[in-house]
Amino acid sequence: MPLAMRVAEAIAEMRRLRRELAEPVGFVPTMGYLHDGHLSLVKRARAENASVVVSIFVNPTQFGPQEDYATYPRDTRRDLALLEKEDTDVVFIPSVDEMYPPRFNSWVEVGQVTERLEGACRPSHFRGVTTVVAKLFHIVQPTKAYFGQKDAQQAIVIRKMVAELNMNLEVVVCPTVREPDGLAMSSRNTYLNPEERRQAVVLYQALKLAQDLWAQGERNAARIRQEMTALIRKQPLAHIDYVSIADPETLEELDTIKPPALVSLAVKFGRARLIDNVVLE
Ligand code: PAF
Repeated sequence: MPLAMRVAEAIAEMRRLRRELAEPVGFVPTMGYLHDGHLSLVKRARAENASVVVSIFVNPTQFGPQEDYATYPRDTRRDLALLEKEDTDVVFIPSVDEMYPPRFNSWVEVGQVTERLEGACRPSHFRGVTTVVAKLFHIVQPTKAYFGQKDAQQAIVIRKMVAELNMNLEVVVCPTVREPDGLAMSSRNTYLNPEERRQAVVLYQALKLAQDLWAQGERNAARIRQEMTALIRKQPLAHIDYVSIADPETLEELDTIKPPALVSLAVKFGRARLIDNVVLE
């Protein structure tokens, strides 16, 4: 019979539990308020590993001063019930003080690719992500770590960090999970009121439009960006942060599309800032 799911709040306890886990260990870092997108990562980790660790930590250092750290949705009790159903072995739920003790001042930074797209809109975001993910990797010591393609730039940045800092694990990127109408699942979708939610499907429609134009032979990236932008602007509540067609390794904007190309966008609806992407193969 499998052991009951265990919960660690202290780093020392997490390390102790880690020593007892059967290899290989799959790890899913999350900020909680779990949805089917997170659970698809946990299922994949479960299928590919003898043990599964999930972390729940709303990481303050990846939020800008005007962003939603204080109001980010949290429901640990529900998260734990969902993770138990997925046969998770250990859930790591550290406090902010545990992860960032007083006078904490060591950072992990990845260059250039973090300056574009999300990094351009959220200047200290990726420094917070790479620092906390590096810390979690050191604490949990996973064999494989699982991330969603929805946060495409995050996945690119983490792969680069792991490769360039010789971290001893494999990064697995899993497909975006969508609502029936195409909206990518995200904890921030809960911020949308019914009208914003109705209009927010335009992110997916704009990405589909890019795929259709590409399939019809359009190779001019500026024209595709223009068509996507025009479609999104038809929704009165949409405020575009960016619409990008970029090289998926460097994130440099493309003039002429040569596959693979990452089509990504960030659009605000009220207080929800939503991101999504597809890759043109
Ligand atoms: O993708 C997220 O939920 C977060 O950025 C992560 C990877 C858990 C780091 O805080």
